[in-house]
Amino acid sequence: MAEELIAFASKGEMLAKSKQFWNPDKTQFWIDSGIPLVIDRRDGYFIYDVEGKRLIDVHLNGGTYNLGHRNPEVAAAVTAAMQHFDIGNHHFPSLARTALAEALVATAPPGLSKVVFGSGGGEAIDIALKTARHATKKRKIVSIAKAYHGHTGLAVATGDERFAALFLADRPEEFVHVTFNDLAEMEQALRGRDVAAVIMETIPATYGFPLPAPGYLAGVKRLCERYDALYIADEVQTGLMRTGELWAITKHGVVPDILVTGKGISGGMYPISAVLVSEAAAGWLAADGFAHMSTFGGAELGCVAALKTLEITCRPEIRSMVHYIADLLGQGLRRIQGLHPDWFTGIRQDGLVMGLEFGHPQGAKFVMKRLYAAGVWAIFSTLDPRVLQFKPGVLMAPSLCEELLDRVEVAIGQAAADVRSGRRVP
Ligand SMILES: Cc1ncc(COP(=O)(O)O)c(C=O)c1O
Repeated sequence: MAEELIAFASKGEMLAKSKQFWNPDKTQFWIDSGIPLVIDRRDGYFIYDVEGKRLIDVHLNGGTYNLGHRNPEVAAAVTAAMQHFDIGNHHFPSLARTALAEALVATAPPGLSKVVFGSGGGEAIDIALKTARHATKKRKIVSIAKAYHGHTGLAVATGDERFAALFLADRPEEFVHVTFNDLAEMEQALRGRDVAAVIMETIPATYGFPLPAPGYLAGVKRLCERYDALYIADEVQTGLMRTGELWAITKHGVVPDILVTGKGISGGMYPISAVLVSEAAAGWLAADGFAHMSTFGGAELGCVAALKTLEITCRPEIRSMVHYIADLLGQGLRRIQGLHPDWFTGIRQDGLVMGLEFGHPQGAKFVMKRLYAAGVWAIFSTLDPRVLQFKPGVLMAPSLCEELLDRVEVAIGQAAADVRSGRRVP
């Protein structure tokens, strides 16, 4: 640690100052939840609290640490790049940015031929929505109820009121919500031909990873084509091999008009996000290339981190291992479920994207707390706290998966007892 810059007498002092200077409600929420975590050391799929407690990280900040914390190859690439690059200048053609754009297009579903960069997922979603509006000359955006696409201006309007109302940014009327997995309602929303785009997480993360019904996403895409709306695939959490394919949307036979990636593309090392756009939707890049500007969007160090991340992620052995460990974890979880069928009520799984359902409205909060005590960090789903988000990394060794399952088994049993005994969670 940079002790000369960062020094606290104790964890208690640090938490008090966190409340004083940073975010009082969030700091207290975690303390009240039984997760008094202050992350210090981090290494691979382990994070360590400042007091030394080791946790297996299966939250991964939504897949940001898909390749593990401080992945040595990504760290080496960025460290070497620092001898040459910095953030760069966003106005000029750039070696690193162009190389990354070319690499992304090479791996993308067919037809996505241009790349616009942002610094985070929300910004990238805003870029995607603006791009769709320019291309269609329409304003309306359709998303699913309980979607989560970030907290920037347009992105937050596509999501749950919970995050907008506080800032008096309640959903403007041109943002329409429909029920997930309901094609009839989707058609109703699109029928007026006044919709610029439908934006879909391929598997809605903050809603607890409910799986799209077979044919649903392809059906949405067909409706988009019928009613002249664009399909935006938000792959911020589902991309980068987490489902066993580089982009989860390809498993549904859908070629999106726009695809958004963020989080994991940074290698967990330098913030960057990207929007992949079809030639037909990319009109604004020819009309006015200065129309969206972002000083840090496509920062050159981020491009180097992303290039290395993409190269690692695309190795054939990574795909096979994802399939192998997804199977291993799925089998182990089903066995644990068999021990508590009335409590551990469901497993949603597509590769390493998993949601574990529990038979209590706040069930995942009980499990999260017991997992923390058992040395595992996994987060509940904000928009459906029955469901625990369970997101192991793509490079996780089978032996660590076995250790994880042992710890999960203990915690799930203890959480069941907590619920039975009438305990409460915040
Ligand atoms: C599916 C999805 N899209 C977009 C975002 C927004 O990304 P960011 O937090 O980098 O703005 C998130 C963040 O959790 C996400 O899960």
